[in-house]
Amino acid sequence: GPEIYSATGEHAEGVDPAVWAQTGGRLTTAQGLRLYDTDHSLKAGERGPVLLQDHHLREKITHFDHERIPERVVHARGAAAHGVFRGYGTASRICKAAFLGKDVETPVFVRFSTVLGSRGSADTVRDTRGFATKFYTPQGVFDLVGNNIPVFFIQDAIKFPDVIHAGKPHPDREIPQAQSAHDTFWDFVSLHTEAAHHTIWNMSDRAIPRSFRMMEGFGVHTFRLVDEQGETTLVKFHWKPKLGVHSMTWEEAQITNGVDPDFHRRDLADAIEAGAFPEWELGIQTFPDTPEQTFEGIDLLDPTKIVPEEWAPVQPIGLLTLTANPSNFFAETEQVAFHPGHLVPGIDITDDPLLAGRLFSYIDTQITRLGGPNFAQLPINRPHAPINDMTRDGMHQTAVHSGVAAYRPNSLDGGCPFLAGAGEGAYVETPVTVPQASKVRAAPASFSDHTSHPRRFYLSLSPVEREHVIAAYTFELSKCYEQAIKERQLRVLADIDPELCAGVAAGLGLPAPEPSGPLPDVTPSPALSQLGRTWPTD
Ligand code: HEM
Repeated sequence: GPEIYSATGEHAEGVDPAVWAQTGGRLTTAQGLRLYDTDHSLKAGERGPVLLQDHHLREKITHFDHERIPERVVHARGAAAHGVFRGYGTASRICKAAFLGKDVETPVFVRFSTVLGSRGSADTVRDTRGFATKFYTPQGVFDLVGNNIPVFFIQDAIKFPDVIHAGKPHPDREIPQAQSAHDTFWDFVSLHTEAAHHTIWNMSDRAIPRSFRMMEGFGVHTFRLVDEQGETTLVKFHWKPKLGVHSMTWEEAQITNGVDPDFHRRDLADAIEAGAFPEWELGIQTFPDTPEQTFEGIDLLDPTKIVPEEWAPVQPIGLLTLTANPSNFFAETEQVAFHPGHLVPGIDITDDPLLAGRLFSYIDTQITRLGGPNFAQLPINRPHAPINDMTRDGMHQTAVHSGVAAYRPNSLDGGCPFLAGAGEGAYVETPVTVPQASKVRAAPASFSDHTSHPRRFYLSLSPVEREHVIAAYTFELSKCYEQAIKERQLRVLADIDPELCAGVAAGLGLPAPEPSGPLPDVTPSPALSQLGRTWPTD
């Protein structure tokens, strides 16, 4: 960029406040006062007491004392990169979002993460991976906050504290750091069978990716796309890695954890630095927006269910290429704030009860994590669109607002800011009919099928992938101290598949229980096996 400070520390006119930090040629205090020494505290004589009046000492140490901010309550460990998204134009038929238009290029920032470990935990643990993408479109920021597993543990966000408390390290010994091998996790998922589908993905090779560059990503929830005429289509978002989907074996992952706990973040940064830019195609499965919001009997509002790709093929709509590493981990990877409610015209939500809770949770936690309500002003979070939101003040306010009328309507600032209409790109919520109903704390009957989807997943795997699943359940459950938890989880597995249950039971040295009833009749979905998984355009 333009040189704003000379080598001698003189600075030019018109310094950009966004880039002023650490650019002077002379060491100063935070107030710009030049210093002649930063190695000695001010003392009353060489062997005398340190003086409280030493502002440089106090400023240097207090700043250091406050360098750490809280890590994310989940997905604390992550690695990120900048890139570009190019629309193919193929979605424009059903979606008016400008960034999906043909050859429209949009800057993006993508953060990959593990879910359960702390910021300093190892990379190649068995866990779900986050795959969060921020699109800086001229219509505002769109965030696609997904995972590398297409389903979630719970069907209703009210249970998120429960599943995370069960999955995080034990409150007494803070063990384990980033793996699911413990009593609280298995206690919860064995008592709470809607978690069975996510759990079996976690016990598969998908939970130990070879590289972030070789993972699929999923929006999980069903979203609603809207075209220029207001017609709607339900969709599920998929990221397909150009390098294919690849995993480590458990043994490779264990060794890598010890030899290089930063393996995944190093791999991502090295590949980008070497010019081997990772690529993913964004695709959508599309479903008619019917009042039932089901497809072939599958409830599209249930985030523990997927629609097999053989039934609804993934149609490519754009290409993501990661082209640059962050230059500062804290400013970018740590301070980025994603939110599933950051939407642009053409993309709307559905009534998935898990999504509804997420829409509240992210902004709430970010107010704590990023120290107040002004985190959208941080460089990594700034929209690439003009802002005039009439918010004022608050912790860490860095904007100097002009004008007096931070309210509407007003006559003092000429009525500005003006409201836009739909034709000018305003976000207008889709007028979906909300059924007349009494208040209930209840889920629809379709949400109570917890076995057919994990069963399809297991039956779709190749023999070696099934062996890995059996070995993973066996290893993880063998770490539980409570015999009753192992036995209860075996009963869950018996209702998914007898071969799976028998294999795990044998490994644990326990009897294999009988299924509680007839097993659901499901057809396998070969697309779920990651062997030979390629993307149609390759
Ligand atoms: C963070 C995905 C469900 C609360 C994240 C991140 C991802 C993610 C990728 C990391 C974002 C980053 O890189 O900064 C998902 C997916 C879900 C899901 C795919 C289900 C489909 C939930 C639910 C809640 C929740 C149900 C709460 C009710 C959070 C919170 C954070 C987070 C509080 C930390 C955000 C921050 O500190 O910036 N999630 N999540 N998530 N998620 Fe979720």
